[in-house]
Amino acid sequence: MRIAIPKGRLQEKALAVFRAAGYDAPGEPDLATRKLVFKRGDVEWIFVKDCDVPVYVEHGAADVGIAGLDQIVEHDCTAYQPVEFDFGRCKMMLIAAPGAPPLTKIATKYPRMTRQYLESRGLRAEIVPLGGSVELAAVLQLTTHVVDLVETGETVRVHKLELQDLVTEISPRLIVGKNVYRTKPKEIRELIARIEEAKHATLQSQLD
Ligand code: PRP
Repeated sequence: MRIAIPKGRLQEKALAVFRAAGYDAPGEPDLATRKLVFKRGDVEWIFVKDCDVPVYVEHGAADVGIAGLDQIVEHDCTAYQPVEFDFGRCKMMLIAAPGAPPLTKIATKYPRMTRQYLESRGLRAEIVPLGGSVELAAVLQLTTHVVDLVETGETVRVHKLELQDLVTEISPRLIVGKNVYRTKPKEIRELIARIEEAKHATLQSQLD
């Protein structure tokens, strides 16, 4: 079984989930070596960027992973999502500077989700893809609006921006490749059951 762990904000909590489920997940000293692959018994752990977890799972290079709905949708990932987690929840929002002109251009790291949002609202706007620090586009008027994730709200607050509309609620999920149920039915059913159990039993106190 190969498990993809996101290296970004979700890493610590993703590892905590697997540990609580009884897996011997790599710890701090392992990760400090900068190695990206760790073999522990029957499990191989791989550490990839958050945005790449759905890509590895979609192509079968990892059997399962933990990924945010933002990355799952953005990569058009068709993997199953059998468990939704309570940690790491945030909102994808339409954001603008106070007094911004009407919506004509949106900067975002999430062009696909932004396109879906515009279609669902019957709106038309140019999408300007950026790699990060997206809020700056609204501050510097690169675009009229931005679509980005809001977790604590601090980034929006310090840049004195306004939340205008909810694009969608985001939560991390356990994702399972389409073929895994066929190729490793017993292992995958056990993994999901253990993760579910860990989620309900002990995680709340550990992760909050
Ligand atoms: C994310 C997101 C926002 C910020 C929101 O950025 O894109 O900028 O976090 O979090 P907050 O509401 O708690 O302030 P990230 O730190 O991942 O960096 P990036 O924008 O450079 O990708």
